[in-house]
Amino acid sequence: FHLDIDASETDKGIYPYYMLKEIDEQVVVAHTLAQYYFDEAGQIRNIDDKIIEAIKAADRLYIVAAGTSYHAGLVGKRYFEQWTGIPTEVHISSEFAYDQPLLSQHPFFIFLSQSGETADSREVLDNIVKQGFPSLTVANVMNSTLTREADFALPLLAGPEIAVASTKAYTAQIIVEAILAHAAGNSHVDLKNELAKAAVEMQVIIDQKAAFKTIAEEALRGHQSAFYIGRGLDAAVAVEAALKLKEISYIQTEGFAAGELKHGTISLIEEGTPVFALLTQSKTAGLVRGEIAQVAARGANTVIISGKSLAKKNDAFVLPDVNELLMPLLTVIPAQLIAYYATLDRNLDVDRPRNLAKSVTVQ
Ligand code: G6P
Repeated sequence: FHLDIDASETDKGIYPYYMLKEIDEQVVVAHTLAQYYFDEAGQIRNIDDKIIEAIKAADRLYIVAAGTSYHAGLVGKRYFEQWTGIPTEVHISSEFAYDQPLLSQHPFFIFLSQSGETADSREVLDNIVKQGFPSLTVANVMNSTLTREADFALPLLAGPEIAVASTKAYTAQIIVEAILAHAAGNSHVDLKNELAKAAVEMQVIIDQKAAFKTIAEEALRGHQSAFYIGRGLDAAVAVEAALKLKEISYIQTEGFAAGELKHGTISLIEEGTPVFALLTQSKTAGLVRGEIAQVAARGANTVIISGKSLAKKNDAFVLPDVNELLMPLLTVIPAQLIAYYATLDRNLDVDRPRNLAKSVTVQ
């Protein structure tokens, strides 16, 4: 397939790797999206009314995607359910394609994709078009197959993403999902303003990137396995955080819902096992603190990344507070930077991990 890239935009410039450049660019992307999707008065623009009507007419939303885009869907589900009141399911495209779940009477499909070319997602789109169901693709590469073949398409406007490990496409997807859910729903959240605040705080975290070099080296040097835990939205980010770390550093990393520890995984904890805990959701913060204490008691080296209002003295990194629903935009940045620095520390090629492709166009 064809990517329309302006050479100057894809120059690494001062950066040693595209991944670091693309992590940094997330702030610009957040501003671009806010400007594109909101007018001065904070009203939504550039989203066809027909898209909003189609979402509102659905009795259930189906988000379908692969890899990091699937993880962005796990976050977006909360926005759609909270703001529109429409039950929302998130599906892995390679599963949905050959094992289609029982659908509701009036489903609406949302395909999330950086490339717009992922074969597994295309297979699902083909299938649901044949069944006559309406669809929207949210993608970074417009004019791609998924954008052309869905009823509607919206751009991520993240600019070219070159590193195999996806970073800015993930945060852009979360932002567009929030904007879409907000536009189709009836929330009192001043989303334009909240996103602007989140963008400012994303920059604050990125400016402290040296802290994550230290964290990555101290926690991960010499280790071959690690864990990311959290609950709710932090569990959704934990799976993306684990993918980021494992795919480029080759450290086997599991990300999962912290409450599941006691049902098996805690038996893997040994002296020094790195366990990263994400702690930004007030409803479950106490429970996650308990789970952290349980792994620490069994020798884990716990690295706690917490939101300011929930932070405790020995936490490894304290994130600024933004609207709790938007915390994934912040939480993922430490995870991206920890993955980046752990990989550098192992002298591996950050941008081109073995066995992986940027866009997987075969099933
Ligand atoms: C590949 C990439 C991932 C990406 C996934 C889905 O595996 O390496 O970074 O998340 O495909 O791609 P898409 O372009 O559909 O988001």
